[in-house]
Amino acid sequence: MNIAIIGLQWGDEGKGKVVDYLAKDFDIDARFQGGANAGHTVYHRGEKLVFHQIPCGILNDNVVGIVGAGCVFDPVIFFEELDAVRKIKPDVEKFVKISRFCHLVMPYHLLIDKIKEEGKSGIGTTKKGIGIAYEDKYARNGIRIGDLMTPELFESKLKTNISRKNLILMDIYHAEPLSDDEIFQKFMEYAERLKPMVVDDPLFMAEAFKKNKKIIYEGAQGVLLDVDFGTYPYVTSSHTITGGAAIGLGIPPAAIGRVIGVAKAYTTRVGQGPFPTEDKADMGKYLRDTGSEFGATTGRPRRCGAFDATVVKYTARLSGAQEIFLTKLDVLSDLEKIKIAVGYSNSPEFDPFIADKLDPVYEELPGFKTDISKIRDYKDLPGEVKEYVNMIEHYTGLKVSHIGVGQDRDAVIVR
Ligand code: GDP
Ligand code: IMO
Ligand code: MG
Repeated sequence: MNIAIIGLQWGDEGKGKVVDYLAKDFDIDARFQGGANAGHTVYHRGEKLVFHQIPCGILNDNVVGIVGAGCVFDPVIFFEELDAVRKIKPDVEKFVKISRFCHLVMPYHLLIDKIKEEGKSGIGTTKKGIGIAYEDKYARNGIRIGDLMTPELFESKLKTNISRKNLILMDIYHAEPLSDDEIFQKFMEYAERLKPMVVDDPLFMAEAFKKNKKIIYEGAQGVLLDVDFGTYPYVTSSHTITGGAAIGLGIPPAAIGRVIGVAKAYTTRVGQGPFPTEDKADMGKYLRDTGSEFGATTGRPRRCGAFDATVVKYTARLSGAQEIFLTKLDVLSDLEKIKIAVGYSNSPEFDPFIADKLDPVYEELPGFKTDISKIRDYKDLPGEVKEYVNMIEHYTGLKVSHIGVGQDRDAVIVR
């Protein structure tokens, strides 16, 4: 069955590792939303790789990665990443497909995102131009990969966009205007190199379904960053819920299949916005240091706190996740006591409209005080660990089907 991998918190749940681990049994790894704001970390034979734009299942033999129409595409980051992956997979280009419907992230998107973030209206974005590129898409001003393939069309769209953006840059932000010549030349070089990889993704996927190819859908960010159902306005600009896969690849929803929700054994968030279980004291510091909680895209320290079962109940409902791939359980090893938020004193459910006012109710469990990173069999886990996992299952109503106990591909316990 095809599988969607969806983040059940605020991103960085470990989706990269999960996709890399599962993709060996699949033919196609399809990204369907987001862009280079994503940072999906994979350890390959001890070497760390961070995927932003290329689907990270591609390190598995024969897996084809497709960047779907729902994504936004930054060619500069893409080519840097391609060079890094080429060292491991010399013929990587043969395994990458990019939708002709996909919108380009242009230099002015990056510039405006950066200027906005550094001014008063920042929300803590990754400054990768994501929101500004999606703004242009929905305002119907965007430039797509398909446009880039026709130089005259690209040139005229570029000129129109640059003249509009220069007005904004000069009049609103008092910044220097951009010149279209240089951008045009660079993008023509990218066009030549991208051409062999460009596909019509709905058609590509329909053919794959006909041939019974197995698909893994690689979600980026997490459900709480969904533009509609997340902690708006502190969200990203795409649909991170499972439904995003249907829209973002032009496929029927029924082609999605099983949904595995990825959740960290605690909670993290980068950027601004509500986070009910955030711990600014010792536990938060412990989690950041022990879990190396620094952004894979921006290097920013991640905000950390306890696992919030009500959050995961909410995100599982929105994503249709039937099971949890619980990651980073090993990080909790040295804690004396482990806290888990099992509800709120002032609301029966997680409600994004009042997320900044939710008052978590905690239960406390004894710490494991054991290194579990070498364990591969569930029955070998200490009783305290199993108790914590049972508690997560009890309060989220979902089965924990896999447990991550380390960053390497094989550091997984299957239940
Ligand atoms: P993603 O954006 O969801 O792919 O997650 P990131 O890659 O941004 O952040 C997750 C981090 O946790 C990465 O550094 C992973 O290597 C690491 N990681 C993933 N699973 C585990 C695990 O089970 N244990 C430990 N210790 N690290 C993990
Ligand atoms: P992965 O795929 C965590 C957050 C940013 C910011 C908000 C909006 O690695 O889980 P954007 O640049 O998208 O306009 O920023 O969303 N954000 C992420 N946080 N993981 C991510 O991706 C994120 N992508 C965006 O920090 O708060
Ligand atoms: Mg990440």
